[in-house]
Amino acid sequence: MRLFLDTTVAVLAIVTAVAAAPRTRSDAQRNALPLATAGDTAAIPSWDIQSSAKITQDLVSLSKSGAVSSTSAWHHAPLSRCTVMGCLIEAGVYNDSDLFFSDHLEAVDRTQFQVPWLYRSEFSIASSSSSSDNTSSTHYLLETNGITSRADIYLNGQQVADKVAQSGAYGGHIYDVTSAILSGSGKENDSSNAIVVRAYPTNYLQDFGVGFVDWNPYPPDNGTGVWRDINLRKTGAVAIEAFSVVTNGTNGTVTIQATVRNLDKAGVNFVANAVIARDNASPGLGATQSTTSSPSTQLGPGQTTRITLTATVDSPAIWWPRQWGDQPLYNVQLTVSTSSGTPSSSVVKSDTATKSFGFRIITATVSSADDIVFSINGKPFQVLGGGYTPDVFLRWDAARFEAHARYTLDMGLNTIRLEGKMEQPDLYDIADRLGLMVLPGWECCDKWEAWSYNDDLPKPTAIWSDADYATANASMRHEAAMQQSHPSLLGFLVGSDYWPDDRATAIYTTALADAGWQSPIVSSAAKTGYSKALGPGGMKMPGPYDWVPPNYWYDITDPATVDDNVRYGAAFGFGSEQGPGGGTPTLSSLKKFLSTADLDDLWRAPNKGLYHMSTAASSFHNRTIFNTALWQRYGAPNSLDDYLLKTQMADYEATRAEFEGFAANWGLAGAINTDASSTKRPATGVIYWMLNGAWPALHWALFDYYLHPAGAYYGVKAALGENRLEHVAYDYVRRSAVLINRSQNQSGVRMVRAELINAADGAVISNITTSTKERTTISTPNSSRVVLNNIQGIATLKDVGLLRLTLLDGQSSSANVISRSVYWLSGSGVDTLDWDDSNWYYTPVSKYASFQSLDKLPAANVTATRQPAANGTAGTTVLLENHSSVPAIFVSLNLVDAAGADVTPVKWSDNYVTLFPHEALALTVQELAPALGIKGVTRGVAVQVSGKNVAKATLAL
Ligand SMILES: *[C@@H]1O[C@H](CO)[C@@H](O)[C@H](O)[C@H]1NC(C)=O
Ligand SMILES: *[C@@H]1O[C@H](CO)[C@@H](O)[C@H](O)[C@H]1NC(C)=O
Ligand SMILES: *[C@@H]1O[C@H](CO)[C@@H](O)[C@H](O)[C@H]1NC(C)=O
Ligand SMILES: *[C@@H]1O[C@H](CO)[C@@H](O)[C@H](O)[C@H]1NC(C)=O
Repeated sequence: MRLFLDTTVAVLAIVTAVAAAPRTRSDAQRNALPLATAGDTAAIPSWDIQSSAKITQDLVSLSKSGAVSSTSAWHHAPLSRCTVMGCLIEAGVYNDSDLFFSDHLEAVDRTQFQVPWLYRSEFSIASSSSSSDNTSSTHYLLETNGITSRADIYLNGQQVADKVAQSGAYGGHIYDVTSAILSGSGKENDSSNAIVVRAYPTNYLQDFGVGFVDWNPYPPDNGTGVWRDINLRKTGAVAIEAFSVVTNGTNGTVTIQATVRNLDKAGVNFVANAVIARDNASPGLGATQSTTSSPSTQLGPGQTTRITLTATVDSPAIWWPRQWGDQPLYNVQLTVSTSSGTPSSSVVKSDTATKSFGFRIITATVSSADDIVFSINGKPFQVLGGGYTPDVFLRWDAARFEAHARYTLDMGLNTIRLEGKMEQPDLYDIADRLGLMVLPGWECCDKWEAWSYNDDLPKPTAIWSDADYATANASMRHEAAMQQSHPSLLGFLVGSDYWPDDRATAIYTTALADAGWQSPIVSSAAKTGYSKALGPGGMKMPGPYDWVPPNYWYDITDPATVDDNVRYGAAFGFGSEQGPGGGTPTLSSLKKFLSTADLDDLWRAPNKGLYHMSTAASSFHNRTIFNTALWQRYGAPNSLDDYLLKTQMADYEATRAEFEGFAANWGLAGAINTDASSTKRPATGVIYWMLNGAWPALHWALFDYYLHPAGAYYGVKAALGENRLEHVAYDYVRRSAVLINRSQNQSGVRMVRAELINAADGAVISNITTSTKERTTISTPNSSRVVLNNIQGIATLKDVGLLRLTLLDGQSSSANVISRSVYWLSGSGVDTLDWDDSNWYYTPVSKYASFQSLDKLPAANVTATRQPAANGTAGTTVLLENHSSVPAIFVSLNLVDAAGADVTPVKWSDNYVTLFPHEALALTVQELAPALGIKGVTRGVAVQVSGKNVAKATLAL
């Protein structure tokens, strides 16, 4: 029995001079798991961790309560889950602001992570004292959800699992630990229990981890540890092991399947009952829609059986992705109850589980040209997304993820791809609620794709052994069970750069089917090959990953015949990971992680390999491709500020062109169709590489680690934006305007206006509208069409011109503006692409477009004033007015707090705008932290204004 008195702790703290927080209660008391009744689940809430090199005790004795007389030799992490590095940061051993600064991460001793680390926790069980909740057949199940790379688990002196069974970051298992729990201190209530997990080191090439390829430096521990919760669940004799909810589309039929096990040594009778209720976001308020029960069934000792219940929801509300409608959700609560034999005997709840789901149907076809087309509820759905990464230390914060999700939707994207980064269960709940599609799958370039035919596999990765197939099976079963009911699941990619071999394909597809998987399964994200069982995946991965000019996406002679090996990543087919590599943060963010010397390198050493780019082993360690283009196109920077403004302009035009290119080529000439025999090559989807960074990175992110959106972000938002479901885009190759309608229900007569001026003096070069120049413009849902061809004056520009495209809701010039954007176009024409010299990461440019004369623009006089908020509009509105006869180029607004620091996350209606002479624009900003419950964020009190030819100013709010 362990006595842990306040005074003892205080004395220890003084003697050992360890700055541990005084503990007023024992760990076991603090860690009281609320397991009142059968069916309750609770996570082990906190951990003490230490290197196995520093602990000499064997795990049998260490896993007995009281075995550690003082935890001062351990690092305490008050978290239910953390990798070793995540725990050490939480325990104060490391500080992430310091680790992220310059190259400080290099200073962490990585050898300390080449031995196993121990996770230890003591806990009690807060059980119900009511006898009806505690039958003689109470059982306890320990549920793991993946421990990296593998683990031995001991509980109350008994070994629960070894590293062969408990293997892989996604290997989740259920262990019956009833005897270990009851042996704790002999009594269930008030018992003191101890659990020890020995987590083995992770080598991404030999183990099934959560890796980062060349995205960023590896975390020093390679993500080792209890990165997902370990749960304890209390049940009666019969436990629910696996549970799925299948809706078979949208007609209201719900099929609930579960595997149940009799944990007892005696036979039992059980009934299963499912209640379906509408999820009104407030627990308990959902109106019951349907209930269904199984007949009473007998189960022998240790036996399992699979039960199927069906129910019908009348007039089911249909779930849609955000851009197309609402996200109604339902819950199923499945309960199994036992009865002791005679029909009239008392029925006792034995186990219960809940899942949320929605009614929607997702299908995909692959055309004979090998392009995948997804459909949601029967409507062809163009996938526009970004590649998501977790935090480098795999720390999960639901509010922070929701900020990522809201940013994604605000930009107008509809999907995130998770390449082997399946995160935590909350991710899927948030995606369901917000209508954000999720495309998960396994990761490339390491153990996960260790196939003999994988030519790109780093040496010396061992190809899969029988044990590895078993780990893959457990991983797929676990992830499928966690994800399957969620309506936001667009599909599952069983391979990334390479397809799984036949044995693994069978394991994956069987596991998915057993789990009730309800969306397409794709063989891989690339055209390297495919298994016979799954067939071609219809996704391409030919790059680019580094800078390409805006015309790259549009440079397709004929969308009906374009060839993958000629036009690579251009806007046709489905690009599973590609982009111009942008995402340079602004100075305010850069100062948080770069030294003065690092900042200098950015513009004084344009070819230098940089620590905050990809790793030194990567093709993306330096910024040469991006910087060469920047120097040539925008002119050699004369200061850090000048460099950073030019990076934002380059990022903005690059991301806007990619997404406009794909959106424009979706429905062009009636190209979208789901006919598998089609040889047409519409742009069916694109995933930007990448959405965000695992740490403060200098590239590959649409917003930075500190959630500050800049050029790359507003470029995407200008192309797609949440409020730009109808939009007009500029095709750089045909010099045409393309009307894009990504809605499902907006249609009508529209007008498109194209105005071209000379940047240097604002002189009008051309001004045309569709009503006079072209036939009447009709906007129709889910389509795109060219509305103005070869816009007058662009081909003959002498110097930089500015093109303003406006989409108006009707034929009158006073009609509402639906979308408006400005493009800077070069008098030297578009960049000349050298397609024949393309490689897997970019296509070189042999002659650059020049915007260098923008450096000599006369200053524009722009004022910013606060406007009263329009009726019903949340947030703060700022009116920008250009009082000059010259344009005001690339004007940005930045919300700051009283100390002048960026306020994030933040949502501007538009930003980095270019104003024509005498033009005024009202921009609205909303702070997202209060609604998301993000703590410690200061409030905005002022807006900083700056631009290419606009003096810096600050507007106090
Ligand atoms: C992390 O994994 C890499 C292989 O991807 C390996 O070279 C390295 O030694 C590992 N680090 C540790 C601490 O085990
Ligand atoms: C689902 O619905 C389709 C068509 O409505 C039907 O052909 C199929 O058999 C159904 N599947 C199940 C499992 O009910
Ligand atoms: C829904 O579809 C399934 C499968 O086709 C069918 O069995 C069922 O009767 C349908 N239910 C309704 C309410 O139409
Ligand atoms: C920049 O990176 C590329 C690709 O890895 C490499 O070929 C080139 O030599 C690097 N440039 C410099 C100046 O190191």
